[in-house]
Order: sequence, then C-alpha cells, then structure tokens
Amino acid sequence: MNVPIKTPAEIDLMREAGRQAASVIEMITPHVKAGISTGEIDRLCHAYIVDELGSTPAPLNYHGFPKASCTSINHVVCHGIPDDAKTLKKGDIMNLDITVKTADGYHGDSSVMFIVGETIQGERLSRVTQECLYKSIEAIKPGVRLSDLARVIQQHAEANGYSVVRDFCGHGIGAGFHEEPQFLHYDGYAPEADITLAAGMCFTIEPMINVGSYKTKVLRDGWTAVTKDRSLSAQWEHTLLVTDSGVEVLTARGDEDLSFLTR
Ligand code: MF3
Ligand code: CO
Ligand code: CO
Repeated sequence: MNVPIKTPAEIDLMREAGRQAASVIEMITPHVKAGISTGEIDRLCHAYIVDELGSTPAPLNYHGFPKASCTSINHVVCHGIPDDAKTLKKGDIMNLDITVKTADGYHGDSSVMFIVGETIQGERLSRVTQECLYKSIEAIKPGVRLSDLARVIQQHAEANGYSVVRDFCGHGIGAGFHEEPQFLHYDGYAPEADITLAAGMCFTIEPMINVGSYKTKVLRDGWTAVTKDRSLSAQWEHTLLVTDSGVEVLTARGDEDLSFLTR
C-alpha cells in the first residue's frame, strides 16, 4: 500500500485545511439546539465555508451526496442528509461531520457530537466514543501500527458494553478527500493493510460506536447509514498528522482540552 508522506509545504496546507474545518464547527456550535432543522445547520455551514473561508464543502456532490455536511441523529451512524423537515428535539444526539476543501486543494475533516437537551444514555455513549478517539490519538507515533490504534478503540468501546462499527472507516487525507490507508476502528487488519505509521502521514480517526450491535444498513436514499437494531450510535472525528515526536491534531478546536497529549 502506498501511503503518501506529506512534504513540509503540504503539511502547512493541511494545517490550514484543518483549522478551517475546526472553525466551521466552532461557528455552528451556538446554533445547534432544539428547534433548528438540520437543513438550516447545513445552510449556515455551507455559507460560512464559501463566503467566510473562500473554500468548498467537500461532501457536496461527492459521489452524488446532495448537501455540504452530514447530520446523523440518534440511530443514524453516519452520512445523514441534512433536511429542512428534520428538526432537532430535546433528547436527540447528533453528529455533524464537516469536510472543507481549501482553495489550495487540501482537505480538513472533523466531526463532533451535539447533545440536545438531556439524555443520560446519549451523553454516556458520546463521552465513551470521544474517549475512544482521544485514547487512539494518544497512541500515535512513528512505528505504531494501525491495528495498535484500532485495538485501543475496540477495547475501550467493548469494556463499556458498546460495539465498534465495521462498515465505515477512517482514511488517509490530503489533496484527496479519501486517500490510503483505510483505517479500520476494530482489529480486522489483513497483514498488508496494517500500515506502520511514519512522520508526514495524514489520516482521520472517526470511530462510530453503537449501544447495540455493530451491524448497519443504508436506507433507500442511498446514503443514510443506520444501526440495524435501531440502537443509538455516536461518532467523533479528527484529522491527524504523524510527527517525529508523536501527533498533531490538525482539526483541534479552540475550546478543546488536548492536554493529555504530552509529547
Ligand atoms: N466526512 C465523511 C468522512 O469522515 C465523508 C462524508 S462523504 C459524504 O469521511 F459524501 F457523505 F459526504
Ligand atoms: Co473522514
Ligand atoms: Co468526516
């Protein structure tokens, strides 16, 4: 497998792409509350990406995807399509997935969970899923294998009684939205797919964690992936750069506590 190593110039362009994706999430956060539709959330993000950032929302028209962002509520695992008729209500949990393509042609990809009102089960699932992301980020450094990171995720999810989605994965990222390698979030690597990390690689970690079974199905719209058993699902995503000493979180948000990264 041929995993691209970014040049220093490309790394700077990836830093900018990552900052932009993070800024979209920061912009939209105060708007996400009960009563807003996912269609309106998408319009606000789309306008900000184009008008304020001078960039492009990468999902729009990607293999025919119809919107600028993905909004995945409750049992929707990923790739939910924003819709003016879908209004957030108290007790919902929603993943918002933003991918920006800068004018220079580089991608930043990040997603976060929003808890609308109160839901004990939803908050616990979201917290454990973010811990899966953080624990795997913490393990990144040159010489570590993808399966090492996947095991960290799978062990934490399953220790909490949850399951790890297998049908969707993380990915290399750069001038391409989805580059090599594929990053499976569970321990299912063929030997040749189990890449050893090296400085200059960029990829996403984006675990999708379910309360029930890991099985998913795609609805008739061709995009919306849901849990087969309709159980709750959560996802958090960052775009990452492997550095000589460890990792840089390219899509870190200003309010995000990444102090666990001491390297
Ligand atoms: N942002 C998603 C990811 O993390 C991909 C969305 S593709 C789309 O890889 F077409 F559904 F938008
Ligand atoms: Co991604
Ligand atoms: Co994404």
